[in-house]
Amino acid sequence: MILILLGAPGSGKGTQAQVLCKKYTIPQISTGDMLRAAKKAGTLDPKYLAIMDAGGLVPDEAVIGLIDRRIDESDAAPGFLLDGFPRTVPQAEALGQLLANRNRKIDRVIQLDVPRAMIEERTIYRRTDKRSGQIYHLKYNPPPSDAELDHRADDQPEAVNKRLDAYEAMTAALLPYYEKMGLLRRVEGVGKPEEVTQRVFAALDIQAAK
Ligand code: AP5
Repeated sequence: MILILLGAPGSGKGTQAQVLCKKYTIPQISTGDMLRAAKKAGTLDPKYLAIMDAGGLVPDEAVIGLIDRRIDESDAAPGFLLDGFPRTVPQAEALGQLLANRNRKIDRVIQLDVPRAMIEERTIYRRTDKRSGQIYHLKYNPPPSDAELDHRADDQPEAVNKRLDAYEAMTAALLPYYEKMGLLRRVEGVGKPEEVTQRVFAALDIQAAK
């Protein structure tokens, strides 16, 4: 099972990815998480760090290289879920080539649709537990009192708006790209996270999780 989750920043890709990966026992491969891990380890090129914190996209070749190596790891043998990659048509074309070289193919691309007006609140109140990676929202999904919370540098309003602009300029072009290939399913991303999960399962033609 090879899945791609598309959607604007804060549309709920990471939240839904955690549920889907558990259901299918496949790893979540998030280029954003990989870049943030490199930042934490001090190995991220300072040029990329500045781009990320300001809400821009790092160059295609940097993230394509990350994916090329990651999909050959043993846990990705049964399949994987891509969250935040691809983000541009050149990244999608490169992914197609990487998979073709390995005789693998994408099963489904899910786009989470959330109006721009709702995104700012979702991102500004987002917190992630540093230890578990669990995503919380201070209003809609409050963290437990013992969580060690991280507030992302790119979740400040100015950077959020820049990320939304980048999404609209670059990533939205992926929708017709995958639609033409017959892989795209659009899912309404508004409502409780569990309701969105049920819609995603329906779009994947699998029985709803209990
Ligand atoms: P990345 O980490 O991929 O961030 P993103 O795409 O901007 O997505 P987010 O993680 O912000 O949001 P999400 O959709 O996962 O939402 P979440 O589930 O957390 O990328 C970060 C940066 O890295 C990029 O800006 C770029 O610089 C760089 N980068 C990464 N990949 C790249 C690539 N391929 N090419 C170039 N550059 C790349 O939910 C958000 C909040 O809403 C949470 O608080 C959550 O609890 C809450 N929430 C979720 N669902 C609901 C719901 N149904 N109702 C209410 N609240 C909800």
